[in-house]
Amino acid sequence: MSHSTLQVNVSPSYPIHVGSGLLQRGELLAPHLTGRCCAVVTNSTVAQWYLEPLTHTLETLGQTIIPIILPDGEAFKTRATFDHIHDCLLEHRADRKTTVVALGGGVVGDLAGYAAATFLRGVSLIQVPTTLLSQVDSSVGGKTGINHPLGKNMIGAFHQPKLVLIDTDTLATLPQREFLAGLAEVIKYGLIRDLTFFEWLESHASALLQRQHEAMSHAILTSCHNKADVVAADPLEQTGERALLNLGHTFGHAIEAGMGYGVWLHGEAVAAGTLLAAELSHRLGRLTRTEVDRMLQLFQLFGLPTCAPDLGVERWLSLMLGDKKVENGVMRFVLLNHLGAATLEGIEADNLLPLLSPASCRFVEPSPNR
Ligand code: NAD
Ligand code: GLY
Repeated sequence: MSHSTLQVNVSPSYPIHVGSGLLQRGELLAPHLTGRCCAVVTNSTVAQWYLEPLTHTLETLGQTIIPIILPDGEAFKTRATFDHIHDCLLEHRADRKTTVVALGGGVVGDLAGYAAATFLRGVSLIQVPTTLLSQVDSSVGGKTGINHPLGKNMIGAFHQPKLVLIDTDTLATLPQREFLAGLAEVIKYGLIRDLTFFEWLESHASALLQRQHEAMSHAILTSCHNKADVVAADPLEQTGERALLNLGHTFGHAIEAGMGYGVWLHGEAVAAGTLLAAELSHRLGRLTRTEVDRMLQLFQLFGLPTCAPDLGVERWLSLMLGDKKVENGVMRFVLLNHLGAATLEGIEADNLLPLLSPASCRFVEPSPNR
């Protein structure tokens, strides 16, 4: 069966394989296994579908498997779950040659990745993402970590995988709400750097909503291509280029933490946050109203939330002041100059006040809407 391969040009570089039936393709995994043991980290939902097929493939390669099955949900992306992974690795006498395989969505990928980054000061990691969001974003680029009650993804490490293996067949079992949430991160690439892709999304919305194979493959490959380019240009988020991937995330992370982790899905919070960032860009004289409305239409077409909950101005500001992009106390936001062109800029709290009040912003709702 054919598949496509992209390369992420960091040091050392690594492949992203995308295609159907890849969980069965041992020859794609074999070159990236460092020893004879794999710790497959997954969760209770994903395990039911995909742990056995992946374990079978790894066993045929002579691997011994340590299955580590986590509880499912963003609410478990915590220090306690992270410690549990280390406990299991130590109990099973995992060593420096053990490969950690993250099988699941972004929560599993971030947790397993952070555990791999820190176990024995760093062991090999393979990402096998099974949600749309993790296939187009979180499995690529080496950001790993956990949430803190005071802020999203506040504790973590950069730890690049050796391989990203995307079996598109796994999307068949993904619930619709999760699928739509993933589309928010797909749209993001179009908005920050790829107008042609944004236009393609507009014209292929119905094929995507039907999860047609060809359209899905194009969306995943184009997203990964964009992500790989950005990560290669700024692997450790030092120049500001990688920070552009955070369009809508300052607002979005505040929504996730403010509403309680797991109440809003990450992609849903990013969708509502992206429209707030668009409105901010418009108010600062960048995006035209027509461009904002075009964005609104696409998010609506994909059934994503377009209004943020009203967290109250004080809570919004306190959560956003804890964002990782804050420098010397100044909040920095990704703004859009045009559709397909983004920039990172410091914004004074005064500029945000009209956006955070439901009375004056069409993208904030007076009462929580999820
Ligand atoms: P998730 O990991 O919670 O997965 C969503 C749900 O889908 C879960 O219930 C999961 O069990 C289930 N699931 C996963 N695969 C399935 C499948 N194939 N079939 C049926 N059910 C399946 O959520 P997510 O949207 O994948 O990831 C969100 C997380 O990713 C957030 O914590 C976010 O912060 C993080 N993230 C990280 C990065 C990064 O660069 N590291 C980037 C974006 C997002
Ligand atoms: N998802 C943002 C990043 O990887 O930088």
